[in-house]
Amino acid sequence: MSNSANQKLWGGRFAESPTELVERLSESVSFDARLYRQDIRGSQAHARMLGKVGVLSAEDVDAIVKGLDGIRADIDAGHFTWKTALEDVHMNIEAELTARIGDAGKRLHTGRSRNDQVATDLRLYVRDTIDEMVALIDAVSLGLLDLAEREADSVMPGFTHMQIAQPVTFGHHMMAWHEQIVRDKTRLLDARARLNLLPLGSAALAGTVYPIDRQFVAEQLGFDGITENSLDTVSDRDFALEFCFAASLILVHLSRWSEELILWASPMFGFVDLPDRFCTGSSIMPQKKNPDVPELVRGKTGRVLGNLNALLVLMKGQPLAYNRDNQEDKPPLFDSVDTLSMCLRVYAEMIPAIIVKRDNCRAAAAKGFSTATDLADYLVRKGLPFRDAHHAVGSTVAFAQKKGCDISELSLAELQQFSPLVEQDVYAAITLEGSLAARNHYGATAPNQVRAAIARARARR
Ligand code: ARG
Repeated sequence: MSNSANQKLWGGRFAESPTELVERLSESVSFDARLYRQDIRGSQAHARMLGKVGVLSAEDVDAIVKGLDGIRADIDAGHFTWKTALEDVHMNIEAELTARIGDAGKRLHTGRSRNDQVATDLRLYVRDTIDEMVALIDAVSLGLLDLAEREADSVMPGFTHMQIAQPVTFGHHMMAWHEQIVRDKTRLLDARARLNLLPLGSAALAGTVYPIDRQFVAEQLGFDGITENSLDTVSDRDFALEFCFAASLILVHLSRWSEELILWASPMFGFVDLPDRFCTGSSIMPQKKNPDVPELVRGKTGRVLGNLNALLVLMKGQPLAYNRDNQEDKPPLFDSVDTLSMCLRVYAEMIPAIIVKRDNCRAAAAKGFSTATDLADYLVRKGLPFRDAHHAVGSTVAFAQKKGCDISELSLAELQQFSPLVEQDVYAAITLEGSLAARNHYGATAPNQVRAAIARARARR
C-alpha cells in the first residue's frame, strides 16, 4: 500500500496523504524549528513528571531525557535534518527521538497535546526573549546615561512644534530618551510576570485523564505557577501580543530618536556627527554622508508595527479553543524579535559614539529668542503680572527681530522701552546659562538637576 498518510504521526484514520501544496501550507518547521530548545526543555520536564506520577517507567524517562539531550546537541551542532513532511518542530523531534530510543519515544506524548506543547514552547521562548531584550535595553540605557553625563552642561535649543522654545541641556534631552526606554523595560518585565505560568496539562483543550502534577512541571521550567483554564490556555496568545506591543513601542521610541538624529546630523542643524561607521555614502553624490542607521531603524519600525497588527487580526475571529490559525503567530513574532534585537544592538553601539557639536548647539539655542520666557519671568519677579509681562516681552521680541538681534543683545535703554522694571541684572536672567540654571527643580533642565537625574537613574539600574 503506497499511501504515506499512515506514516504521519496522526495518520491512523486517514485514507490519503495531503497534497504537496497542502503539505507546504501546513508545515511550520521552516520557522518553528527555532523553538527546539524550549520544546526539548518542555518535553524533558513533562517526561520527568510522567515518571514521578508513575505513568512512565524510570528507564523510559531516562531514555527520553538522554535522547532529547542528544538531539539538542545535534541540532546545536547543525547535524539535524528537519523534515517538512513531519510538519513542525514538535513532530520532528518526537519522530527523531523514537527513531533513536524506540517505544519510550512513542510514550512521551502521553497526557499531552501539541496544543499545550506549543503554548508552553512559545511562553518559554517569549520569556527567554524578554530576558535578552532587557539586557540589550540595559546596554542602550548605559550609553544614554554616559552621554547625558558628558553633555550635562551643553546647551541646545528645546523645541515645541519643532520651533525653538527654551534652552535645555543636551544631557536633559538624552535623559528624556532614557525615560522612554526605562518604561519600555518595565513594560517587558510586566509582560514577563503575566506570561510566566505553565500551560502543560491543558492537553488538547480539556485537560487529561492521567494523574499529572502540573506544579512539578512548572517548577522545573521556572514558571511561577500554572494556568487556570485549559480552554483559555491552548488558545491564549496574549503574551505574544504583549511582547509585540512592547516591541512596537520600543521601536516607536527608537524611531523618534532616529528622526531627531537624522535632523541633527544635517548641516542645517549640525548638532551631532555620527561616526562614518554608522553612515554610508551615495553612489552618485561624492560629498554625501547619509545617516543610514537611524533611517533604517525608523524604517524597520514599520514592519514591527505591522507584525503587531498581524497578530491582533489573527486572533480577533477565533472561537475557543485551539485553532490552527495560531500556527501563524510565529512568523510575525519572530520577525519582531529579530528586528527589535538588531535595532537595540545597533543603538547600543551608536549612542556612545554620537559626537555632539556643542558650539553649533549653543549657537542654535541663542537663536529664536529662546530666553524670552526668562525675560517674562524676570518681570514677574519685579512685580508685573505674568500676562502683562508676556505682552511686554512679545513687543521686545518683535523689536529685536526687526533689528536683527537677540533680546540679550538689546541695550538697557532699548529693553526699558517695553518695561521700566528692567534693570541691569536682567542680562544674567536672559543668558542661556542663566535660563538653564533657573530651572532648578526635580525633573527640570538645570545642569545640576540633570546630574541628579542621572545619579537616580544609575541607582535604579
Ligand atoms: N504547529 C502547530 C502550531 O504552531 C502546533 C500545534 C498543532 N496542533 C494541532 N492540533 N494541529 O500551532
